[in-house]
Amino acid sequence: MQEQIDRLKGDTLGRIAAAADAAALDQVRVSALGKKGDITEMMKQLGRLTPDERRTTGQLLNALKDEVTAAIAAREAEFRSAAIDAKLSNERIDMTLPARPDAGGRIHPVSQTIDELTAVFGEMGFTVAEGPDIEGDFYNFTALNIPPEHPARQAHDTFYLPPAADGSTVLLRTHTSPVQIRTMQQVKPPIRIIVPGRTYRCDYDATHSPMFHQVEGLVVDETSHMGHLKGCLIEFCRAFFGIDDLPVRFRPSYFPFTEPSAEVDIGCSRAGGELRIGAGGDWLEILGCGMVHPKVLANCGIDPQRYQGFAFGMGIERIAMLKYGIPDLRTFYESDLRWLRHYGFVPLDVPSMTSGLSQ
Ligand code: PHE
Repeated sequence: MQEQIDRLKGDTLGRIAAAADAAALDQVRVSALGKKGDITEMMKQLGRLTPDERRTTGQLLNALKDEVTAAIAAREAEFRSAAIDAKLSNERIDMTLPARPDAGGRIHPVSQTIDELTAVFGEMGFTVAEGPDIEGDFYNFTALNIPPEHPARQAHDTFYLPPAADGSTVLLRTHTSPVQIRTMQQVKPPIRIIVPGRTYRCDYDATHSPMFHQVEGLVVDETSHMGHLKGCLIEFCRAFFGIDDLPVRFRPSYFPFTEPSAEVDIGCSRAGGELRIGAGGDWLEILGCGMVHPKVLANCGIDPQRYQGFAFGMGIERIAMLKYGIPDLRTFYESDLRWLRHYGFVPLDVPSMTSGLSQ
């Protein structure tokens, strides 16, 4: 009997060690400990033995059963941990790799500048509004107090499209100001928006492109006055160019849709033929602005006796060229990768008032 048990033990433990997977191991378990398993069968035969033999053999069989059970459990644990190891090594991540490999893509200076000025005006409580590039004559001109025979229409070098089905004039917007009208028609004051977007004029040289970008600003409420306009734009210029003491001056000007109107210059120096933004005795024009004309408010159904406000508009490429020293406007649209690598911005450096506008 002893011999038989030893043989069974050697054989069973050998098979457990050799089991290649959980299914094979289960077969071993059934063939040893199952209802008709080898150990179970031997247990059944204990009854035929003398009481003395039964006790010693019973102890041996019980010990064998325990040993086999433990061996199976240990092998199972090995399978489990091997499965976990395999899963972990499959899901392995190399933490030493950069989070995002630099694919060489860059943010275009126009996008970067829009993000930057949105951060500055966003901090002041402005929200971003948008309007269509293809406009009607009413929004681009008439509602802005530019009637059909007004000379300002010639100055805009407008691209006209074929007339609409109802005969009305359709054009590519020459400025972002039509979004002033669309916004005032749709929302009640108080209004505080900026409108970055594409604009179109039939003009092409080193400082003009048939498509370019502007950002419009509009504030309408019961109390905003010229002082607020000045404070807002001085603050913008200094924050955008990152120069705390940047000189900013307002020169009287004319726009049909604002009264009074002004153009804004920032200080610069041209010493040695090099343009530098900042205190330097010289001036550079960067935007147009004014108090919203009462007729424009009335054209949008807003009572000019009760409401007032200010508007401004500036060229995005122009302020980008000044801030980043980009000499030629036409290069913005050439899709030259070398230019973009030089003047572009790293995608994860998103401008904000807390992290800074640009590196
Ligand atoms: N729309 C004007 C332009 O394109 C700029 C402007 C906007 C001026 C708002 C005053 C107020 O030149």
